[in-house]
Amino acid sequence: MNKRKIGVLASGRGSNLQAIMDNIANGTLDLEIAVVVSDKPDAKALERAQNANIPTVVVDRKACSDKIDFETKIDSALKEHNAEVVVLAGFMRLLSGFFVEKWQHKIINIHPALLPSFPGLDAQGQAIEYGVKFSGCTVHFVDEGTDSGPIILQKVVPVFDNDTEETLSARILEEEHKAMSEALKLWSLDKLGVEGRKVILK
Ligand code: GAR
Repeated sequence: MNKRKIGVLASGRGSNLQAIMDNIANGTLDLEIAVVVSDKPDAKALERAQNANIPTVVVDRKACSDKIDFETKIDSALKEHNAEVVVLAGFMRLLSGFFVEKWQHKIINIHPALLPSFPGLDAQGQAIEYGVKFSGCTVHFVDEGTDSGPIILQKVVPVFDNDTEETLSARILEEEHKAMSEALKLWSLDKLGVEGRKVILK
């Protein structure tokens, strides 16, 4: 049987991408990564994909006339490779309503905080600054807001008095690697339904 195909958007290091690749390789996830798209030509995520013979596409924002042009090119790359769902694995740009409408309930993001706390940039730093005792990560469908879409799952980690942004980020990242694959497994088994703001397990 043909495997369901995902497209991954990544801007940087790509450790979340790597975790998905590892879980596909070890049989935990029955999926295929159809393409990895990056807005950064030097993203380590691209190198990881190329090492695994996964097609890569760079869409450099600076080379695009405007945001619509940028997002149209990303959309075309995903469609050319027959991606059914878009996974944001450390993709550091906000997608506009233009893109989100095309992929409604088909964009999955991972955010390094327990949403709705600490959306946007530097979520781990925001958590340290606020003094919360627990933080974690959230996997959610993307809507037109910033980190505001229906939540698929969350994982919690403690925050210790002596934590720095680096130590907390590392603790959260470990959970991110599990959380994204768990969400993708549910998606691949067609278990995720969206009712209003809620994700329901079918
Ligand atoms: C991860 O911590 C991810 O949650 C975060 O960027 C990092 C990417 O790491 N994403 C966001 O903050 C999105 N708003 P990675 O490149 O090693 O997967």
